[in-house]
Order: sequence, then structure tokens, then C-alpha cells
Amino acid sequence: MKLKVSVFEYLNQKDMYIQDVNYYFGIRDNFDIKLGDYELSEEEVLNIAKENDPEEYEIFVNTSIEERINKINTYSIDDIKEQSSYGQFTLCLHPSRKCNLNCKYCFRESEYLGDEQLTFEVAKDAIDFLVDKYAPFASKYVVDLSGSGEPLLQIDLVKQIVEYCKKKRNEICKNIEVMFCTNLTLLTPEIVKYLDNEPAIILGTSIDGDQITNDNNRTYANGKGTYDDIIKGLKMFKNKKLGLAVTVTPLNQDVDLIYDYLYHLPNVDCVSMKYIRSYDGSRYDFDNFEVEYLISRYKKLCQNILNEIQKGNFDYFKKLLQGGDYFGGLIYNNLFKGTYKIYRCDAGKSRITVDNIGDIFACSVMYGNKDFRIGNMYTGINKDIQSKFECSSIESVINCRNCSIKSICGGECYVNAFMKNNDIYEPINKMCELKIELNKLSMSLINQMKNKFCLIYNQLIDFAFEVSRYEITPPEVWGTMEYLKLRNIVVSYTEVDSYLKKHDNVIQGILNYLNKYDDSISLYRIYLGNNIKFPSIAVLNKIKNNLLKFIVIINVEKDMITYKEYTFNSVTDIKMTSLRYFINNLSDIIIY
Ligand SMILES: C[S@@+](CC[C@H](N)C(=O)[O-])C[C@H]1O[C@@H](n2cnc3c(N)ncnc32)[C@H](O)[C@@H]1O
Repeated sequence: MKLKVSVFEYLNQKDMYIQDVNYYFGIRDNFDIKLGDYELSEEEVLNIAKENDPEEYEIFVNTSIEERINKINTYSIDDIKEQSSYGQFTLCLHPSRKCNLNCKYCFRESEYLGDEQLTFEVAKDAIDFLVDKYAPFASKYVVDLSGSGEPLLQIDLVKQIVEYCKKKRNEICKNIEVMFCTNLTLLTPEIVKYLDNEPAIILGTSIDGDQITNDNNRTYANGKGTYDDIIKGLKMFKNKKLGLAVTVTPLNQDVDLIYDYLYHLPNVDCVSMKYIRSYDGSRYDFDNFEVEYLISRYKKLCQNILNEIQKGNFDYFKKLLQGGDYFGGLIYNNLFKGTYKIYRCDAGKSRITVDNIGDIFACSVMYGNKDFRIGNMYTGINKDIQSKFECSSIESVINCRNCSIKSICGGECYVNAFMKNNDIYEPINKMCELKIELNKLSMSLINQMKNKFCLIYNQLIDFAFEVSRYEITPPEVWGTMEYLKLRNIVVSYTEVDSYLKKHDNVIQGILNYLNKYDDSISLYRIYLGNNIKFPSIAVLNKIKNNLLKFIVIINVEKDMITYKEYTFNSVTDIKMTSLRYFINNLSDIIIY
């Protein structure tokens, strides 16, 4: 069998990427191999891998190439549906359609957006729709209020929504987080006090770089730049760090300088740089990006990351990885080798947008646009239209089928494709060119780290898992709350979450917390024949490689047990099994 490979070099690090199985190996400096894309036999590939990267080779050969290829080839729409039926679900709302700024590139003026005001009643119905009907088994919900105007112009509505999410999460025992991006220019001491002390809100601000760069783009209606007020706003926060959202345009392509500058601002949690969506022939038009130049700046950014790591500053890298940075996202994906991304994004699947009359759109940027409307929360989802977004697996996109990085990429943004080419399945060539090189660069960066800073590399993998845990409700919080709910005790999500976070030993944390309500609660080993109490929390100790997940036992009758389970990224509906099976295969330790 012949395998397609790409051999490339970035940051003085040569790598070989095996396209068919989405895996890559480092190549030693003195190894004779030509750069470029070509085909090699399976044996040749394995020999090269063994000689150059023996450690990675050992991991790789645990699964045969044939098996790996079969796994890719048998992915289907059903897999896409399954993959997008668990994990985090996001609801985007636009609390304000007005803004006090007049940023030069803003999509706010797009005619499909309309200018109707969202009401609290519709926002509340949308949250109920998401949680109770659309994704009842999700493990976490996010309500994104960034929208297309300035959320702080509707601070009272924002507060009402936050209060409702907090009330609702106490009922459902799962996290509902509110997040939004603000321009920070409307802060008052009262608003800061509220935002800074509300842990249910994750906050970000938009800023495009240093004063000159930012003020070229982000201005008040009278043309005055916003930089000074953003910095003033950032400094007002005492408890919270904010994510920074950067719009990279053809006028500010120096991503390394932008990142370095913003990293050093006060109270920064992460820096997320994303490219402008502009296809109007203006100087901001995406077509004006120069791929080669951008890549040269990203190489500098990587070099800066490596230099900072050498100085012991891993945080410099973390702040790129933990938000929504475009390049950071590619690095993150490439840390998990051999996995296949079969669709580009969660739009219309685990991310929906609801407008002021309950119409549902696949993407927030396309709020009001009929081509992205998938239904209405009062009358239902139109499955045929929704499948436009479910069916766009990488293999169904002609431009993607033969792409060298299709398995990492999963396809490009529906909105960009639609705006530029009037077809959600036809990606923008320039974006693809850029993405191919950025993926290669990220693989070289990862391998460079692995070779030079082994300990940091291990820390990086741990950190990647930590990041993925942001996307679920901590299972111990769910278990504790669900158990108490069965005993008719409704507790605050914030309280349970912050209490359990303080305990390294999760089980001890749960016991301590429950003892506040009933000091007889303890840990018991169970076996067939003894009395099993319910409700109780079973610790899933019988499953190999289990990351400590929980089952809440609802009932035990004769030799049957009824329970709710928190498994891989989702909370299941009520299940039933025999007691024997339960004790032998799931858990024999319970808390009651
Ligand atoms: C529309 S604003 C709304 C939230 C808030 N007013 C703010 O400024 O952060 C949300 C984000 O969209 C970005 N944005 C606006 N127009 C854009 C465009 N044409 N392409 C890409 N991003 C854009 C902004 O820079 C900002 O980071």
C-alpha cells in the first residue's frame, strides 16, 4: 500500500506528515529525505519513523496502518451527529443591536441583522429550549452574549439573563456559563463591581493591538480611538482576568508583535487572534492578506514562544492556547495525533443562535440571514435545513477531498465560504493555503518542543487535557448536586463548584460538602446481598482508565438498579441494569 506523505521544515525542524492516517514524526537533521509531497510504501514510512522518532514510532505501531485507515474511511454522517450530541452546547444571543462605537470593519451594519431588541422573555425561552429540548444530555452550556452590538448598553438585560442561568443551573445540576465580549468603554464602578464578582460570567474585550493598531480600527462614532479607555477598563478589574479578542486585518498582519504586546497588558487571561471577515474589495478585504508574510510573522511568534519557554515562561504559550486563537486552535488539535476532524465547526450542531422572535440560525455572525436559518424554537427545527450543516463532512466538499491536511482541518468556515463564494461548501483558497502552512508550522513547533524541552512538552499535553475539561461540568459537582436534589435539597452551583475546587481529593471534598447537610453520610463498599441505599453516589471505580466519573443511584428494587450516569462528556437519561453487573463492572463504592 502506498501512503501519501508531506515532508516539510519549519523552525529548523523537519517533519514527516502521513496524510492518510493524520500522524506525524520528527525527522533528524542529518537524515536524507527530500522536502515535498509524495507517496511512499508502508514499509518505507515505518522505517523512516523508526529511525527518526523511535519513541513516537512505538506509540504509532500499536495500531496498524490498515486499522487507522479503516477508521477514517468508515466515518459517517451518523458519527458527526453522535460527536455533536454531547459535550458543550452554546447558545448565542444578541442582547444589543446597537453600539457606541463605529469600528471600521464591523459586520454590525449587515442588512440581514435587523434592529429589533431582544426581550428577557425570549432570552429565557431560548435558554429553556437549549437545555430542556435541544440538548438535554449535554455536559455543559454556554450562553454567549457577545452578539453584534455592545452588550453593556443592555446591562440590565444581561443581569437578568445571568440570574436566570444561575437559577436554571441549580435545577439541572450542570453548568450554564454566560460569556461575552465587550468594548469596555461603558464601564462604571458599579458595572465593574458586578462583572468582577460574578463567577458565572466569563468576560472578554476586543482590542486589536498597540494604540496605533487598535485606534486605526476600533473607534468611537466621532473617529476617536478607543485604546486608552480599553486599558483604563482592563485595569479596573481586581478579581478577574479577561480574554482579549483581536481582529487581524490585512492592515495589521504582524501577529507576533500583536501577541507580544497584548500578552503584557494587565489582567489578561488569553489572547485570541482571528482574521477579519471582509469581502467587499475595501482595504480590509481578506484578499489583501499576504500568506507568505503572515507565515513569516507566525514563525516569529513560534520563535518567541520557544525563547520564553527557554526562560521558564510557559504562560506565554498558555495564553495562546486557552482561548479561541486561530493558530492556537491548530496547535491544540495537532497535540492529539491520529484523530480525525470530520467537520469544521459546531455551527448549527452544538452551537445555535436565537434571534428576537425565536428564529434559530447556525452561526451568530449570520443572525437574521435566511440561508443560515435552521428553524424556530417555538415551532421546531427544520431537520432538512439543519442537515446542510451536519452533512458538510470533509469528504462531501469537493475542494477538500484531495487536500493534504483534510483530516486535521475538517473543512473551512461556512460563513466565510458563503460570504466570499456564495456557497457554504466552497472554502476560500487563500484561507486554505494559509491553514495548510500553519498546520505544518504547528507540528514543527510541537516536535521542536518535544526534542528540546521534554518536561515542558509533557506539561503541554497535561495542559491540553485541562483545557478540554473546561468544556464539561465537573463530574463531581454534577454528582453532588444531583444526589442532593434527589433528597429535595437544591444547592447553588457556584457554592458547590467553588467548595469542591479547593479539594485535591475529590471524594473527600464530596463527603465534606455532603456532611454539611447530613453528618452521617459516608463511603461504603457494596457487595451482592447487602442493603444498597438510595439515593446514593456511586464512584465508577471498576472502569479502566476512568477519569473519576459518577453515577447517581435513584432506585434499587429486587436485583435491579436504576441510575443516572455522567459518562464521556454527557449526562445520560435514566438507565437500569442488574445489581450483579453494576457491582462487577461499574462500581462497588458508594456514598450515602
Ligand atoms: C461585533 S463585536 C460585539 C461585542 C462588543 N461590542 C465588542 O466590541 O467586543 C464582537 C467581535 O466581532 C469582531 N468583528 C467585528 N466585525 C468583524 C468582521 N468584519 N470580521 C471579523 N470580526 C469582526 C469585533 O472586533 C469583536 O471582537
